[in-house]
Amino acid sequence: MPQVRFLGHSCVTVTEGSHKLIIDPFLTGNPKAPVKADDIDVNFVLISHGHGDHLGDGIAIAKRNNATVIANFELANMCANEGVNIHPMHVGGRHDFDFGSVKLTIAHHGGGAGEDASRYTGPPVGFLVTIGGKTIYHSGDTGLFYDMKLIGEMNRIDLAFLPIGDNFTMGVDDAVKAVEFLRPAKVVPFHYGTWPLIETNPEDFKAKVTGAEVVILKPGETYDV
Ligand code: NI
Ligand code: MN
Repeated sequence: MPQVRFLGHSCVTVTEGSHKLIIDPFLTGNPKAPVKADDIDVNFVLISHGHGDHLGDGIAIAKRNNATVIANFELANMCANEGVNIHPMHVGGRHDFDFGSVKLTIAHHGGGAGEDASRYTGPPVGFLVTIGGKTIYHSGDTGLFYDMKLIGEMNRIDLAFLPIGDNFTMGVDDAVKAVEFLRPAKVVPFHYGTWPLIETNPEDFKAKVTGAEVVILKPGETYDV
């Protein structure tokens, strides 16, 4: 049974036996991060898009662990230029890894790395990660999109991570609709509360969701999928 650990913002680790993944490792600079980037021990680093609060410490973590970065083609190649191992993919593609599989999904958002996000890193993505017989959906940063219905129809999602912080992504009401489309068994809200601009009450999301169990995780908390 895989275990997830929420590390604040959109950062999640997924562990199953010797398989250790981290998604969107924004730790340095995250005031709510419960751990330091130097404490992360992983085999794979999944990065949804080039924005600093997602790419984060990804390159440093991948280098130190000799881990492989999984990202879209453009972002992966930018990481390769920094000297890390990569496995480039793109939207709609699935690939089998030793731990299970990853499929890249669409996300409606921006892409771009650097202080002013001007360095081209391709389109943003979400991830469908299948590991230990469970399917985890990490949407990345996105607005609500109707194709979430298709993702829900074609995948039995055990656990979904969805943003609720509004302004840059879905807010609570759109995320509630996303749950209706995706039909996950369980959903964890994220990308809120990191800064005042994306402050929101996850209990409001919990109260409004029907048909899925809402699991609110504080930074540092683990959960068995
Ligand atoms: Ni972003
Ligand atoms: Mn973000």
